[in-house]
Amino acid sequence: MRLILLGPPGSGKGTQANMLKEKYDIPHISTGDILRAEIKKKSKLGLKTKKIMDSGKLVNDNIVLGIIDKCIETGECKIGFILDGFPRTIVQAESLKQSLEKRKIKLNKVINIIVSDEEVVKRISGRWTCKNCGDIFNTYTKPEQEKGKCDKCSGKLYQRNDQKEDVVRDRLKVYKKQTQPLIDFYKKEGNLVDINGLLPINKVFKKILKVL
Ligand code: AP5
Ligand code: MG
Repeated sequence: MRLILLGPPGSGKGTQANMLKEKYDIPHISTGDILRAEIKKKSKLGLKTKKIMDSGKLVNDNIVLGIIDKCIETGECKIGFILDGFPRTIVQAESLKQSLEKRKIKLNKVINIIVSDEEVVKRISGRWTCKNCGDIFNTYTKPEQEKGKCDKCSGKLYQRNDQKEDVVRDRLKVYKKQTQPLIDFYKKEGNLVDINGLLPINKVFKKILKVL
């Protein structure tokens, strides 16, 4: 299974990817998570990208393409992958297309999760992520059982630096300008499916499973 999850910030890409990963036992590749891990490690790459990510802008295409190439080349991705947060620009989509064609790999589906701007702002303000396993919770829609602790691994929950409302609104602008054009790109490729992301988490998951 080879999937791309498209959608604005807060549409539930990470939430659905975590569930799909468990169901199909295939790698979940989130460029956002990989970049945040670099920032945590204070690596050269992390130091270079921290400011950009905190401001909600996109990091340079070449940086992200380097990360993805490495992932696709590893044996782990031979059985399939779920791409979350990549591609995000036409340059990235074209490059992925070439890279997959070169390896004679076909994408199964591009899942386009649709939600409104106001829902995004509300959801992101209530989001809590596990520092340890990356599971995602929400004060309003998916609260953890014990405050501040992950239900799965008891890891500490934290809020991301790009969760402030003004940054979220900027991320939505960036999404509309640079990422939304990918909807037409994949419509032309013929493998895009729209999913109503306003439904509850489990219903969204069921809809995705149905189209797969
Ligand atoms: P990234 O980490 O990819 O963030 P994003 O795309 O902005 O999306 P989010 O992670 O904020 O939201 P999500 O769709 O995963 O939703 P979630 O499941 O958390 O990117 C961050 C930054 O990294 C970028 O700004 C950029 O700087 C850089 N970057 C990353 N990739 C890049 C690339 N390819 N090129 C260049 N730069 C790149 O859900 C949100 C909340 O809602 C949660 O609390 C969840 O519990 C809740 N929720 C989810 N689904 C539902 C539902 N159906 N009903 C109710 N609540 C729900
Ligand atoms: Mg995410």
